[in-house]
Amino acid sequence: MNILILGGGGREHALAWAVMQNPKCDKLIVAPGNAGIAQIAECASLDVLNGAAVVNFCDENAIDFIIVGPEAPLAAGISDRLREAGFNVFGPSQAAAQLEASKAFTKEICAAAGAPTAGYGHFTDAEAARAHIRAHGAPIVVKADGLAAGKGVIVAMTEAEALAAVDDMFGGEFGAAGAEVVIEEFMEGEEASFFVLCDGKDVLAIGTAQDHKRVGDGDTGPNTGGMGAYSPAPVLSDAVARLAMDEIVKPCMDEMTRRGMPYQGVLYAGLMIKDGQPRLVEYNVRFGDPECQVLMMRLGAQALDLMLACAEGRLADAQVHWADDHALTVVMAANGYPGDYAKGSVIGGLEALPEDSFNMCFHAGTALKDGKITANGGRVLNVTARGATLAEARTRAYAMVDAIDWPGGFCRRDIGWRAL
Ligand code: AMP
Ligand code: GLY
Repeated sequence: MNILILGGGGREHALAWAVMQNPKCDKLIVAPGNAGIAQIAECASLDVLNGAAVVNFCDENAIDFIIVGPEAPLAAGISDRLREAGFNVFGPSQAAAQLEASKAFTKEICAAAGAPTAGYGHFTDAEAARAHIRAHGAPIVVKADGLAAGKGVIVAMTEAEALAAVDDMFGGEFGAAGAEVVIEEFMEGEEASFFVLCDGKDVLAIGTAQDHKRVGDGDTGPNTGGMGAYSPAPVLSDAVARLAMDEIVKPCMDEMTRRGMPYQGVLYAGLMIKDGQPRLVEYNVRFGDPECQVLMMRLGAQALDLMLACAEGRLADAQVHWADDHALTVVMAANGYPGDYAKGSVIGGLEALPEDSFNMCFHAGTALKDGKITANGGRVLNVTARGATLAEARTRAYAMVDAIDWPGGFCRRDIGWRAL
């Protein structure tokens, strides 16, 4: 089978690594890929937002199966274009991708499905939004409705902060994403991520993870795309996962199908858990990055079989073969991230790292320059390990981190602290 993965970050490196282990994969192309992915698969330069170009590429390369990594091509309708052209695709339609592309849409689906989530108001007008904030007080959460690369959420601890966020959003700070604003009740609890495959009829849980969003040790400093993750997430116990499935995921998926937009792909439910009760924070319509890295490390080759079963509507007969294992990934980022950072610094020591089913350094933002691996983004490497315990996985991951020679980068030293 010839497989195309769209994307070029650590998530796509991990997907490629898992797919390559499955004997069903004859040929793998990743577009655009990166320097790490190029070591295990063919990389192609392709505008993944351009449906016609991607369809053409799939025709020319006799592609049998397409896995869409990031949200932007999904929100742009790439799955629809590919399905119209007769291709087998893992990833939701543009209509179903609204579960990530519009916060107001998601709140409406939750309300119709009776899924527990924060109370909210939806505003297209700044004065009404301000009045809502004054009426409810702080803490309160202000969100740009659309895709804002993870930056459109302000958790305001004071009323003044919330009012300023409203001014920023309607003032255009987040572009079109902020033309509409959702204001939510502040939820307390512990956050965890729940990953579920959905084929429009059936659902299959494929793992749990916890992310570290703040840049600094002890969860300090500004928010990032994620500085590390581990799987499983102890707070997402079997009992909590069952509640999340029965009260949140399944009713929402049924509601999507009822509206004529069945969801097909991986659904990433961000949950807030308090006293054993999960509530939905947000949906994403793709694997998390770096959560995917720890999930792929644990699933290995079966990930491809599961994604194929999902794309082909066969989830009712699919099963996940769990090992009683743990995985942990440490993100290495360029100095200065999530603020301004330089590109191009040379990363040494990568060739000597172990590469096996327990140790893998996935590349998130790298490029090859004059034969050397260089940093080419904010989040650059995802140093990932698996073990019989989380402590063992962590020891392995940090041993690899310590063997990497990159003065231009840094990482958190406390990934996994909440669970250890
Ligand atoms: P989102 O992009 O919706 O996941 O929001 C980003 C982060 O903001 C989440 O991971 C939470 O940490 C926080 N957050 C979002 N909504 C809420 C809420 N209603 N209550 C508390 N924290 C929230
Ligand atoms: N790590 C969070 C995300 O992928 O959205």
